[in-house]
This record gives sequence, structure tokens and C-alpha cells, in this order.
Amino acid sequence: MDYRAGEETRKTRSIIRVLDGEAITPSPIWMMRQAGRYLPEYRDIRSAAGSFLDLCYNPELACEVTLQPIRRYGFDAAILFSDILVIPDALGQKVWFEEGAGPQLEPISLDELDRLTVDGATDRLSPVLETMTRIRSALPDETTLLGFCGAPWTVATYMVAGRGSPDQAPTRKAAFADRKGFDRLIDILVEASIRYLVAQLHRGADAVQIFDTWAGALDEESFERWSVEPTRRIVAGIREEIPGARVIGFPKGVGTMLERYVERTDINGVGLDWSVPLDYATRIQRHCAVQGNLDPMRLVAGGEALRSGVTRICDALGEGRFVFNLGHGVTPETPVEHVAEMIACVRNHTQQDGIARNG
Ligand code: CP3
Repeated sequence: MDYRAGEETRKTRSIIRVLDGEAITPSPIWMMRQAGRYLPEYRDIRSAAGSFLDLCYNPELACEVTLQPIRRYGFDAAILFSDILVIPDALGQKVWFEEGAGPQLEPISLDELDRLTVDGATDRLSPVLETMTRIRSALPDETTLLGFCGAPWTVATYMVAGRGSPDQAPTRKAAFADRKGFDRLIDILVEASIRYLVAQLHRGADAVQIFDTWAGALDEESFERWSVEPTRRIVAGIREEIPGARVIGFPKGVGTMLERYVERTDINGVGLDWSVPLDYATRIQRHCAVQGNLDPMRLVAGGEALRSGVTRICDALGEGRFVFNLGHGVTPETPVEHVAEMIACVRNHTQQDGIARNG
């Protein structure tokens, strides 16, 4: 398949229309990590699938869990079921997921990067691309299909530390001790990400999202060097192959550096974490579409905390180019009925005098 072949239908899908600059009422909605452990039907398949990576590389089951939240809730987008750590796995690093302990990797040091093999990585990811094809043909025509990868910095934090860490200190330390060596790791990840995302777009993704979950751990100079610049290169690299390809960025926790991230990377939309003030978000909306930013804990709590959170966000952002989402992934303890209530709140929302008009 070719990305351009689907362009006419693609342009009718709500989230693509928003990424192309339209404001839509009611706001389209999807949820980061929408296929996951808060869903009983996910837990059933997960326990039958073997390891978590086995599930990621099983096109039939990965397609099925991608579709679960679409069937249950009718979200406006489906996101490919996979993980950001399939890239290090495909590059030849040992990756496994331990129950309760999160991801584990055999840590790589910056003087042994020759062990990583970019050529052939896309071949090893072919089951994931097969999943993408299956999802597109099973998905309702109006539903946007999103692909994704982790941003080089965020993926590198796991590759170097060998695990998640609260402040990414092991990777910051290694990167500052050998900046040229770390640049090389970033370059490898930029190249692998471009190829992987281009392949996803050709296999049916309407747009792709780049998750930079740990961007907020970087100081100003390092954020430019290891988050903004690599993301800019990925966006440019994708568009060299596929002109007009749509990309969403998600640099979590970067505060007022968000605006320059958006300007320099040339993305079509940006995910906002829940710490982003809504009046600042309306400023970002002048540059590109915004997506977010309900605190996932409001969704866990439900009730008035949920309803008032949704209302404030929709009031502030709903008149511009906006996709409703959480400020980070949905957590396993989230009650399924709260998700239904959140969606109803967004779809029934009528615009009040919000920050957008007052500010
Ligand atoms: O959003 C979706 O529904 C698509 C699937 C998806 C997963 N991971 C599935 C998953 C996506 C987009 C991701 C991205 C991802 N993975 C990120 C970036 C976004 C974010 O949430 O910050 C990161 C940092 C990872 C790395 C990762 N994978 C961690 C830290 C963990 C353990 C934490 C946890 O929730 O257990 C994972 C495992 C993982 N990835 C699960 C799922 C559904 C849970 C594991 C399981 O089901 O056994």
C-alpha cells in the first residue's frame, strides 16, 4: 500500500481534519494507552498470549487488543498496539518485561554501539507492520489509525539504564560524560525511527505520534540537542519519503519549552501533559493542533473531579484545533465506566465562556 493512495478517505477522518487545521465539535477523542490492563477483555488476551513482547509480535492478537477500546467505546482513533521498546529489541538489544517490574533491558554502554544493527531492524518489525495492515482493514472507515514510536531520547533512557528510572539520572550522567557517543546513539535511533514510521504510514497509519515521555528531565541545551533536533530530523526524514505526512509530538513535562519544540519540529499536533496551563495551550494552538490534557487520576477518581476537569479543558480549547486526550496514559486501576462517562462528557459538551474567549 502507499500512503498517498488513501489520502481522499483519510482527509475525512476527524483527527486528520484537526491535524490539518480544522476545529471540530464535538472534539474528537482517544486515550493514550487505551488498549491496556484497565480493560478486562485485554487482561484475558494478555494472560493467554505469553510474554508482553509475544503479544506485540502476534499480529492477530495485537490487532484484536487494538480494536477492543474501539468496539467498547467508539473512540475516534485507534493506536497500534505495540511498545516503544520494540525498536531496541529490533536493533538487537535484549529486552524483556517482568511482571510488576516494568521493562528490563541488557544495558548498552556508549562504546559498544556497533552491536546495534539498523539494517534489518525493519524486517524484524514486520509482524508489527502486519498488525497495522490488519487493523486498517478491520477498523470502521471513519476511525483514524495512529502509529507511533518512542522519541530517541526516551528510548535511549531505557537502553542505557536498562530499566525505567524516576529521573533518568543514569542516562543523563552517561550522556554528559560522553556527548559525542550519546549523539551517535541518538543518530541510530533517528534513522531507525524514520524507517519504522515511514513503513507504518505505508501500511495504513493515518498519522504517527512520537512519545517523548522523559523530555522533561533535560535542561534547555540538552532538550534542544536530544529532543527537539532529533524530532525535527525524524519529521523531515518522514516527509522526504512521504510529503505531507502528519506527525504528533508528545514531549512530556517540558513547560514553556513546548512552544519552541512545536515551532522547530514542524509537527502537525502536540500532546499536552496535565501540567500545561490552558491559557498557554491556547497559545500553542496558534501553531498547531493540541491534544490533551486530563490528569489520568481525575479519570480514576470520577465524579465531579472528572466532570469539571473535562469541562475546563473543552471550554478552553474546544473552539480551536483540538483533540481530547489524557495528559498521559490511562492507568490499570481506572474503572471502565469512568471512561464511558468521560467520553459522554466530551461529546455532550457545549461551549461556555472559556479561557479561549476571555483571554
Ligand atoms: O496506547 C496504546 O494503547 C498503544 C500501546 C502502547 C503501549 N506502550 C502498550 C503497553 C504505547 C503507545 C506504549 C508507549 C510506551 N511504552 C511509552 C510512551 C508512552 C508513555 O506511556 O509514557 C513508554 C515509556 C513505554 C515503555 C513501557 N512499556 C513501560 C514503562 C511499561 C511498563 C509500565 C506499565 O504500564 O506496566 C510498558 C509496558 C506496556 N506497554 C503495557 C502496555 C499495555 C503494560 C504491560 C502489560 O500489559 O503486561
